[in-house]
Amino acid sequence: MTKKVLFVCLGNICRSPAAEGVFLHLIEQRQLTDQFLVDSAGTGGWHVGNPADQRMQAAARRRGIHLPSRARQLELGDLESFDHILAMDQDNLHNVNSMVKEFGPRSTANIRLMLSHARRADTLEVPDPYYGGDLGFERVLDLLEDACAGLIEDLLASGTKR
Ligand code: 4NP
Repeated sequence: MTKKVLFVCLGNICRSPAAEGVFLHLIEQRQLTDQFLVDSAGTGGWHVGNPADQRMQAAARRRGIHLPSRARQLELGDLESFDHILAMDQDNLHNVNSMVKEFGPRSTANIRLMLSHARRADTLEVPDPYYGGDLGFERVLDLLEDACAGLIEDLLASGTKR
């Protein structure tokens, strides 16, 4: 069965589109594309309709990774239509969990911090690169390459247990 995975950050123009692009890249390499439906969203709506930040796109492109995302805002319906929601930081997680409270029992997604799936990371949060320099975007990709690989492993392993 298709696993539906949603990556969430604040603006949906830097971290979660990068997570989406890295995840898509890795499942394509592993020939797992047909096993997943992948999307990203922001808890805020300021950038709705915009492509990923140019700096984020450029950093990803240097690694051969395409970011197809157009920003959209997280909706209550996402909490039941996705199986897994991965928040980039604690603020994002808090905001998603507030929506879970509002939606009540209809919320069925498994919600976690993205870096809880990382193997090498020394932090649980993907830092917001928006107001920083180029190194911040590289750091985001380093963390997400680790966490996306771990997430794929974890989702495949949980699928075999059922
Ligand atoms: P993101 O980064 O949450 O990783 O997409 C941000 C993008 C825009 C803003 C903040 C964070 N902003 O304040 O506009």
